[in-house]
Amino acid sequence: MTQDARSSFADPQFQANPHPVYAEWRRTDPVRWVRLPSGLDAWVVTRYEDARRALSDPRLSKSLPVGAPRSSALSADIGGAVSRHMLASDPPDHTRLRRLVSAAFTARRVEALRPRIEEIADGLLDAMSGRDRVDLIDAFAFPLPIQVICELLGIPAADQDSFRAWSTIIVTGSQSGDRLPGAMRAMVAYIRGLIADRRAHPGDDLLTGLIEVRDQQDRLSEDELSSMVFLLLIAGHETTVNLIGNGAFLLLSRRERWDRLRADPALLPGAIEEFLRYDGPVEAATFRVAAEDLEIGGQAIAAGQPVLVLLLSANHDDRFPDADEVLLDRAHNPHLGFGHGIHYCLGAPLARLEAQIAFGKLLGRFPELRLAVPAEDLAWRPGLLLRGLRSLPVVPGSPTA
Ligand code: HEM
Repeated sequence: MTQDARSSFADPQFQANPHPVYAEWRRTDPVRWVRLPSGLDAWVVTRYEDARRALSDPRLSKSLPVGAPRSSALSADIGGAVSRHMLASDPPDHTRLRRLVSAAFTARRVEALRPRIEEIADGLLDAMSGRDRVDLIDAFAFPLPIQVICELLGIPAADQDSFRAWSTIIVTGSQSGDRLPGAMRAMVAYIRGLIADRRAHPGDDLLTGLIEVRDQQDRLSEDELSSMVFLLLIAGHETTVNLIGNGAFLLLSRRERWDRLRADPALLPGAIEEFLRYDGPVEAATFRVAAEDLEIGGQAIAAGQPVLVLLLSANHDDRFPDADEVLLDRAHNPHLGFGHGIHYCLGAPLARLEAQIAFGKLLGRFPELRLAVPAEDLAWRPGLLLRGLRSLPVVPGSPTA
């Protein structure tokens, strides 16, 4: 029997704190068939071991259609231009597509971006200084990763605002209602224009490199090229912002955490892993579909049925001691915040570096930073895919020199 979980998913209280509902699901019926906000019925996987196994099970395919109603609202032309990417592919396509860009995202290559990321962070924090109150999402958590991914790809800074609006609508999915197809069309038109422009005027950026792979070596179709840009833009737009936002919230809503990290900055890398576990930006992994009959955690799944792995729930499984506590010095933290298996986040080294720079600088420059409103008044974004605050009003306080 389908459990209609739509009322839970749409409830602001669930959005603010989904943990009790997930805890109940892990305890009572850990692999359950629910009705999602889109109206689609799917299996949700809530426990850690089941989640880990599901994410690395080749029988759970990324390339089969999930039957989500939203895909039908798009023409084949638009659909193809955004869906032929690695996160929607199985091997061997997945292997080929991922290999084309993986060199740009290794820990070593990413480390070379450090000075530029620091410069961007400094500029944003300079602009915050002297202000009585700012939205930390708008002023810092959002523009930092956007600017980085745009520079990496070679996208003009002036265009960033328009695709922020489209991208927010796209990742909110079915809960964006009628606005979704229009946002998709606008995004695809923008990406096609960008590709045409860079074909005419090559630069020294990732986009130019991908166009060469397409045009000179024929290792990429036109749809795969635009889908790759789409995926990198969305992934670079919508995730790290929430790592910075959610992490800042966890630190500022309990002052002793902020003070502890200020006193001992060596805790920072581990603290960031704990933010990823406790309130990671990606609440649910993307859909998978059973390519054949199989079992997850003792539950039979029929071929063709969609499966959604709830990363946030898995990360609060009691395989983590004191799972509902934020332990800045947690010793062993094999969280699933970046996923697992062949689709493990390509941008993880970049996201970690951005977060380290962001928190390092924030703690150093604004020691008195505090929330401008009670923590309970903050609103969380709707949608099951991502977990993040709509805004995070703060009082910066006096900056250090
Ligand atoms: C804190 C920030 C981030 C988090 C929490 C995150 C999380 C994830 C997760 C959970 C997946 C797997 C989804 C699934 O299996 O269904 C994933 C995949 C991916 N991420 Fe990230 N991500 C972050 C930042 C980034 C950044 C900055 C980029 C790069 C621009 C990026 C690029 C990708 C790509 C390309 C994939 C698909 C990999 C594949 O299919 O092989 N991510 N990410």
